Amino acid sequence: SVIRRYDFTIERKTLAPDGFSREFLTINGQFPGPLIEANWGDTIQVTVHNKIFAPKEGTALHWHGILQKESQWMDGVPAISQCPIPPGGSFTYSFYADLYGTSWYHSHYSAQYAGGLVGPMIIHGPDPHRYHIDIGPILLTDHYHEDYFSLVEKTISTNINDVVQLSDNNLINGKNNCSAVNTACASTGGAGVSTFRFRPGKIHKLRLINAGAEAIEMFSIDGHNMTVVANDFVPVRPYDTQVVTLGIGQRTDVLVRAPNDASGSYTMRSSIAACSLSVNPHAIATVYYGNRAPTTLATTTAWPAFLSSVANNCANDDLSLTQPLFPMRPNPNPPTTKNIAIGFGQNATQFWQWTMNGVSFRANYNNPILLLSKMGNNSYPDSPEWNVYNFGSNSSIRMVIENPGFAAHPIHLHGHNFWVLDVGTGTWDGSNVVRPNNPQRRDVQIVPAGGYLVMQITSDNPGAWPLHCHIAWHVSAGLYVTVLERPDDIAHLRIPAVMAQTCRDWAAFTGVNIVN
Ligand code: C2O
Repeated sequence: SVIRRYDFTIERKTLAPDGFSREFLTINGQFPGPLIEANWGDTIQVTVHNKIFAPKEGTALHWHGILQKESQWMDGVPAISQCPIPPGGSFTYSFYADLYGTSWYHSHYSAQYAGGLVGPMIIHGPDPHRYHIDIGPILLTDHYHEDYFSLVEKTISTNINDVVQLSDNNLINGKNNCSAVNTACASTGGAGVSTFRFRPGKIHKLRLINAGAEAIEMFSIDGHNMTVVANDFVPVRPYDTQVVTLGIGQRTDVLVRAPNDASGSYTMRSSIAACSLSVNPHAIATVYYGNRAPTTLATTTAWPAFLSSVANNCANDDLSLTQPLFPMRPNPNPPTTKNIAIGFGQNATQFWQWTMNGVSFRANYNNPILLLSKMGNNSYPDSPEWNVYNFGSNSSIRMVIENPGFAAHPIHLHGHNFWVLDVGTGTWDGSNVVRPNNPQRRDVQIVPAGGYLVMQITSDNPGAWPLHCHIAWHVSAGLYVTVLERPDDIAHLRIPAVMAQTCRDWAAFTGVNIVN
């Protein structure tokens, strides 16, 4: 194994991915950010230079889905695992590529990932499924014409009409045409669409990533069937489909076998499900055969299954379909169980907020929970809004997420691939477990509106792990708790001195200029 080194400079830059110019937060001038690529077991080292000025903001990058078992402090979450990197400062992340497959990285500071701080990450491993051509990452991102910080301010507002954000467009690998309904960019004619070259008779691997802010995406390619081979970092027993559903943070690897006589071009589609709101929910791209990308759009017809999914579906594939290829059985000992109810309402000063068990999370950037816990503070009596759930030394943890409300939420846990024991509408009956000997594992699962999600982990990773809805606006409005796993063992982690130094640097910065 080797060290894969990357150097990232984060700065503001104006870009027009659909023809409309807006300020982005970019990495090395790019949106989406550069591809991180490694082999399983390599060390990934990313030096991040924060050049976010005018106005200044802190930042921190999170490596979505990486377990960080040997480096819990490298998880990149302000208020949990580190203090933000102050503007003008630098920080080097270093961690093992401890799982293989497709993922992404993103800022975990405020909703900066909705402002452009996202990029793909591929870790090559002993891939159990045969294919010929790796098409690489396909990032699906809902797109807003307003900058992220104004949207966050609206989200946490006293006016209910401001709280739900309407995206303006939808992008595939950072591009889409402007649709005619979108007056803000219609006059520019758009920025064109992404193109992907396929070869007749070959099997292509596509790595789908929902790296957006809010929307559940439905992905499809006209005239082509797909075979799902992995969900998040977990290879699954292959199953065929014409539509893949992805909530924010979710990834699905699919194989696409091209017919021997394939020619011409086909439309690739990703549409925002009807349960999310967008001015133009339809992103398109072109799949083509032959040597040269066509300059005109394909004129193929969408699968009926795709159209009906976009209109009616808002949930992940059935758990009976999504079987991990390598079985892992949950610990048979009774777990400690926590019920967590998602809520939405106005606080004492009339601001709308999201809650878990009645409490809305508020970040304390100066006091990351992991570092406090390392120093022996595991109770947080004065700070209920830090939402720390201390599971002590329990060897097995079950969380029953109850979602009585009107919105589906992609629920993400750091530090683990959790078992999805059951998911559905209504309330869990307290005992049903789908496929007890090999439940689906992944790191994000959509809990349906008016439904529940039962997740379980084995406590094999002492740390402070965020459990949150991955919708950017919901995270910022408090839909977030911290799972404190084995605090007695956190006390023995060898946290490097640079973590404390970053906190001193951050304190020095906020002393003169508090942005958030
Ligand atoms: Cu994709 Cu809390 O992260």
